[in-house]
Amino acid sequence: MTIKSLFLGQDLKNPLVLSAGILGVSASTMIRAYNSGAALVTTKSISIAPRSGHNNPTVIAYEKGLMNAVGLSNPGIDVFAEEIKKTRQKNIPVILNTIGGTPKEMADVAKKGESAGVDIIELNPSCPNVEHEKPYASDPKLLGELVMAVKKQVKIPVIVKLSPNVEDIKVIAKAAEKAGADGITAINTVGPGMLIDIASRKPVLDFKTGGISGPAIRPIAVRCVYDIYESVKIPIIGVGGITCANDAIEMMMAGATLAGIGSAVYYHDIGIFRKITEDMERWMKKNSCKNASELIGAAHV
Ligand SMILES: Cc1cc2nc3c(=O)[nH]c(=O)nc-3n(C[C@H](O)[C@H](O)[C@H](O)COP(=O)(O)O)c2cc1C
Repeated sequence: MTIKSLFLGQDLKNPLVLSAGILGVSASTMIRAYNSGAALVTTKSISIAPRSGHNNPTVIAYEKGLMNAVGLSNPGIDVFAEEIKKTRQKNIPVILNTIGGTPKEMADVAKKGESAGVDIIELNPSCPNVEHEKPYASDPKLLGELVMAVKKQVKIPVIVKLSPNVEDIKVIAKAAEKAGADGITAINTVGPGMLIDIASRKPVLDFKTGGISGPAIRPIAVRCVYDIYESVKIPIIGVGGITCANDAIEMMMAGATLAGIGSAVYYHDIGIFRKITEDMERWMKKNSCKNASELIGAAHV
């Protein structure tokens, strides 16, 4: 029985990924996530120049999830490249999540990331394209142009992180595949949402609205991954609301090759990776499942 996984040429100790923005802000946190059981770590979204985020509070927890409006704050790729190098020195597989206002900007970040040693580029197309004033994530044509621009600049695999806040995620996934994407990550946060503090009569987040994550969005994430699996042949990282081994197995049965963990690190702690892998192994033994790959797409007839 093995929980080892293969994703775009990477031999991984298990199918669990640290999702973007949760802990991947420095080499020390990425190394900690790996040593705590994550097989692959994703960085926070990184841009070409430093970006300051929104004012606090930027993240709040409510009964069924988290809401965040971090604002994609990051130190820029030139500074962040040092953190990537320190993480790669420990032989830890790294996915660099990139943002940019134009395809060229994202391609430049990707190229610098490749030089710093990352294994995979993950495009975050949810930020607005400054030229067209709408996110690449909701327009198949713009997304295709973005993927092609980045693919031209790097030799390592390029995957695309999809937003659930679109009319038909299958159309967007197909456009990414057609443009040459090597894989898909689904999903980014749902929303935007809003919560109001009734004492102060004001929205809780300083930015007023934020993206929703955690258990509340799990059924949306599972449906998106299920639909994407039926639409494309490239592998999928399924993320959204996973907090235990059963959730990770469910996501793989929907069609994910790997399961991403984000908000659960907030709910529990970094030990969640080890707990989920151990519980998955137990489940596999009990259910005569010899290889984690048997789970991928098992819910499709
Ligand atoms: C505090 C916070 C920060 C995030 N930052 C990023 C980010 O920088 N880039 C990105 O692509 N996704 C970001 N995400 C989205 C997560 O990577 C993930 O797609 C989403 O939260 C759903 O997974 P979860 O329910 O396991 O958290 C962030 C999520 C949270 C909660």
